[in-house]
Parts: sequence; structure tokens; C-alpha cells
Amino acid sequence: MARILITSAIPYINGIKHLGNLVGSQLPADLFARYKRGRGDEVMFICATDEHGTPAELAAAKAGQPVEEYCADMHAVQAELARGFRLSFDHFGRSSSARNHRLTQHFAGKLDENGYIEERLEKQVYSNADGRFLPDRYIEGTCPNCGYERARGDQCENCTKQLDPTDLINPRSAISGSSDLEVRETRHLYLRQRALKDKIAAWIDQKTDWPLLTTSIAKKWLNDGEGLQDRGITRDLYWGVPVRKGDQPWPGMEGKVFYVWFDAPIEYIAATAEWADANGLPDSAWQRWWREDMGAGDVTYYEFMGKDNVPFHTLSFPATILGSGEPWKLVDYLKSFNYLNYDGGQFSTSQGRGVFMDQALSILPADYWRWWLLSHAPESADSEFTWENFQASVNKDLADVLGNFVSRVTKFARSKFGETVPGGGAFGPEEAALIADLEGRLRSYEQHMDAIEVRKSAAELRAIWVAGNEYLQSAAPWSVVKTDPARAEAIVRFGLNLIRLYAVLSRPFIPDASAAMLAALGVTDESWPGTATGDLARALDHLSAGHGFSVPENLFAKITDEERADWQLRFSGIRG
Ligand code: 2FM
Ligand code: ZN
Repeated sequence: MARILITSAIPYINGIKHLGNLVGSQLPADLFARYKRGRGDEVMFICATDEHGTPAELAAAKAGQPVEEYCADMHAVQAELARGFRLSFDHFGRSSSARNHRLTQHFAGKLDENGYIEERLEKQVYSNADGRFLPDRYIEGTCPNCGYERARGDQCENCTKQLDPTDLINPRSAISGSSDLEVRETRHLYLRQRALKDKIAAWIDQKTDWPLLTTSIAKKWLNDGEGLQDRGITRDLYWGVPVRKGDQPWPGMEGKVFYVWFDAPIEYIAATAEWADANGLPDSAWQRWWREDMGAGDVTYYEFMGKDNVPFHTLSFPATILGSGEPWKLVDYLKSFNYLNYDGGQFSTSQGRGVFMDQALSILPADYWRWWLLSHAPESADSEFTWENFQASVNKDLADVLGNFVSRVTKFARSKFGETVPGGGAFGPEEAALIADLEGRLRSYEQHMDAIEVRKSAAELRAIWVAGNEYLQSAAPWSVVKTDPARAEAIVRFGLNLIRLYAVLSRPFIPDASAAMLAALGVTDESWPGTATGDLARALDHLSAGHGFSVPENLFAKITDEERADWQLRFSGIRG
């Protein structure tokens, strides 16, 4: 039994995530976690909310809530939506947890001890009215290039020119609108990533099996232009992990917090500690996943994320870990995704464009979305959600292929032989041929799943469903029953066994439908078929004569043209 640690990029706390966010990290991570559990491995699957930073503070202010309360509420909302999508985290933590505070401060202390932290004096814009320093994007003013009046301190949205806050004409705070701004000096900590460059480069060079998307982004940041830069890891904010050196104060850093991107990946580890705490387990229970000296030597660690997160996970987080000089687990395989677009444009949280997780679940059950998103995962290139495509794949793959198979087999069986598995006849050449075909398909499905080739896995699974339909069509028990009822019983028995196999194999993609299929068959044995000769044949001879079953409720309803048109219109605008 292998030990598999899986983390999904942790979603920002402010606001509900859209389907593009979901398919870029949490959903494929869940697919993989479910698959590995199905194969009998010991899995630890971790996610959390990413709670710190200015966007969280401002969202709380907009909601009229203290930021602590806002984050607690939004965590509960996101946790509920994760349950709705059947994301099977072992723990859904919070980056604002006491565990993460302590661990982040611990890492900073170690990095400092090892000479990887440097203090620098900087000039930054301070807003007297807001009583705080303003990050670049919270300073607005007129663009010196095009005259656009709402240009941000880092960039003009209108003409795309990159700006410095001091370039802006009539600068003002984007928070309060006040123009009572001044430039003040402030001291910050920098992580000396450049000093770790050779170690990081050597580590990445070993990762010859990583997806091209991952390594190309990592190498670009490592080598292009001026190459890897040292990085500011503190901010003048209220909401975050207070800057401390381990459990000691950090002179000169009073009132400052760590930068959200410093503490967020550390939360992967902290969330595992939160999991242990929540289950009343000792520290050794989480350390055996993360500390090479505490048993994590045999753990394989997979990370899932969108491409924009890759630099932080290939360079900065490894710099934190390597620089600590302690035996923490580094990622073994990093799966990254391109973007999912929405109906001719981009999904956008700030603009409320696209379908968001709560909206999706309000119109259809999770499996419909899971299937479409995973079978169209933006792996080798960006992909696009359109309502036509969504309707077509739900109707074809789920309703016509899988749903129809289950319904034909169970309904025919009930009508001819009642609600128990019929025992007549024997399996013959047709069943043997299908088993041989499925044997090959199953091995290739497993290979794609092991390699986290999400689309290829979905295509193979669908082919496995199609093979069952073709078998049923050609075995034609509805004709055979007229002349050879015993043979028809064997076909039906085989069909019912196929449903059980499909439930097991499909579970990582569509867990609810899978559970409904198993419940209808009255089986609790969900074990994945073995890989030895004869194992698949045995798995397809699992349900024997006399075993009771029922006809499941229609597994998948087709999406009608009216529904599609209605949703298309409903989600064409901007979320209010
Ligand atoms: O892009 C995002 O949604 C970030 N909140 C991801 C953070 S992943 C990690 F570092 F924890
Ligand atoms: Zn401009």
C-alpha cells in the first residue's frame, strides 16, 4: 500500500469560486485522491482557505464585518460548497489557524538562522486617512499615458501600461478615495531566493517526469531576464501572521505580518496538523506525512494548481523548505492546469462573469459538473465552457451511454426475471470477448489515472461504458429470451455485474451516481479489480443468483434545449 499526499491550491477566502477555479485544482485533486483510495493506497488529501492579505481585508470591509468574522463565515460557505461538489478532503483547513501562525513563524525563524533573510528599507505610499500603507493596486489615479482616471498603481487597465504608484496623476486611496497620501519609509524582510537558486535548479532538473507546463514556467522564472529574485515576505497590514522569529519577537517588525504568499503554502502542512488536532491525534500523526525524519520518506507528494500558481510552488515554497535546513517533504509531482474560459471570454471573479460554484449546484447535481469539467480539463491548452458543449456531453456521455446502460439492464432484468439476479445459463464467448477488451481498456484507464492525464482518463472511462452498451446491443437479451431464456439470464447477470464494475471505476469522476448504482445493486464491496490474470473475470462474476437488486431512479436527466437556453441567458451577464 503506497502512501499518497495530495494538496490542492488553497482558494482565496474572498468570494465564491467559479468553475474555472474548481477545475484548475480542487476537482482534479479530488479525482486523483478518490482514485488512489479506490486502488487501496493510504491517502491524505488536504485543502484550506487562503485567508490573509489585502483582498480579504477589503472584502470584509465591503461586507461590513470584522475580517476575522468574515473569514469564518466564508470558510463555512466554501466548506459547504466543497461538500456539495463531493470534494473528499481529509481536512479543509484555514490559513489563519494557530497551527499556521506557529509554523509560518517557525519557518521564518529557521530561514533567518540559516542566513536566508535580509532586512531592507523601502519607500511606500501611506494613506493618512486610512491609517495604513497602501499596496500598489490600492492606489488609483489618472494614467500619465492615456488619461484614464481609474488607473491602478501597478498598471493602467485601459492602456495596459505598467506603472509605479508615483507615476499616477492625482493619486488617491482606492479604499477611502482620500488623496492625503505620503511616501514613508518602512522596513521589510526579504527571502534570499537568489542564494538558493542553485539548489532549486538542481532539484527541478531531477523532475524529468513533470508536465511541460510546470517545468517550462519554473525554468522561465529561474533563468529568464534577471532570473530568480529575492522576495519581500512581510507587509504592513493588520490581517496576517504576525512577524516573529519562531516564538521570539522580531525587533523592528512589530505590527507587521507575513506576506500571504509566504504563509499560504505552509498551510498545506499546518492543515494536516489541524487534521490531527481535529481527530485528537498526536503530532506524529501529521508529521509522518511531512517530515522525512518522522516517516514521510515513503510518501509520494502531489500538488495540484492553476498555472498562475506554479512559480510560487516550484521556486518560493521550495526555497522556504530548502532554506529551513529541516527534513520537510518537497513536492514529488506537480500537476498544473491552463485556464478554462467561459462562453467566448474569461471567467472572472472580480467581474462576476461565468458560473460560480453555488450557482452550478443550484441548477444541477455535482456529477454533471464534475463529468463535464474533468472530461474537458484544460490540460494541454486553455479550454472553453459553452452551454451547447455542456448539454451535448451530459446528454451523450452520462444519459445516453452510462445512464441508458444501467436503466436498460435493470429494467429488462426486472421485467423478465424479477428483482433478483437470475442464475440461468453460462457466460460464453461474447462475455469473454468483452472481458478481454475491458482488460486492455482498464489497464490504460489506470495508466492515465496514475499519470494524472485527466482528459485521457475520462475518454477511456467513457470507452469502457460504450463497450458495455455495444455488448448489450449485440447480445440482445430481449431477442434471445424468446428462444433461449437461460442464455438471456446469463446476459442479464453479466450486465448487472458490469453495472457494479462501472460504479467502482466511475466513482472518482461521478461519486453520487456511483453510490446510487451500488445502492441499487445492494452491494457494499467497492473494491477495484485486481490486475492479475482472471481478476477482471472474477470481478464480473461477483453478483450471483438470487442477489436482490432494484432499478435505480433515472441516474441522469437529459438537459433540454429550453433549459440550456434559459441558463445561457441567466448566466450571460454579470453576477450581482
Ligand atoms: O491562486 C489562489 O487561489 C491562491 N489562493 C493559491 C494559494 S496556493 C498555496 F500556496 F497555498
Ligand atoms: Zn492608461
